[in-house]
Amino acid sequence: MLSMKKLVLSPILQVMLIASAALFATANIADDNLTVAKTPALQLAALSEGFDAEQTYMLSCFACHSTGAAGAPKVGAGNAAEWEPRMEKGLEAVVANAINGINTMPPKGLCFNCTDDDLAAIVDYMLASSK
Ligand code: HEC
Repeated sequence: MLSMKKLVLSPILQVMLIASAALFATANIADDNLTVAKTPALQLAALSEGFDAEQTYMLSCFACHSTGAAGAPKVGAGNAAEWEPRMEKGLEAVVANAINGINTMPPKGLCFNCTDDDLAAIVDYMLASSK
């Protein structure tokens, strides 16, 4: 009898485990700002001290922009042609799209503790390293 109960419960338990794992992941994202603020080694992602465009690029943007995932313009040597048509509308407009998001490009490139200036600096870095 006990083992039958276990059989009936286990799919429900599985669903609950998956749901709580998803909740945990979401909570982790929400906690990210706090974690970054508390961890000196990761303060690079904050504006005030030691913001580093390359480091923040690696953390927030690299996943999509190194591979061209979802049509993201690729960053890196030899990728100037990916950026030329985008730059036709001017640097300011390109930076604004990084801040606000465009199509599948998420707002702030998912760097939610980046300021507008941080994002502009990252775009500079992306352009400079895509020549
Ligand atoms: C989830 C994937 C993803 C992440 C993460 C991401 N991007 Fe993008 N990005 C895209 C895609 C896709 C496009 C192309 C959007 C379009 O034009 O349709 C894009 C386009 C851009 C553009 C060009 C905008 C224009 O006007 O043409 C810039 C600049 C940019 N991203 C900056 C960033 C920065 C800075 C970060 C990190 C802070 C970042 N992205 C993170 C997917 C991503």
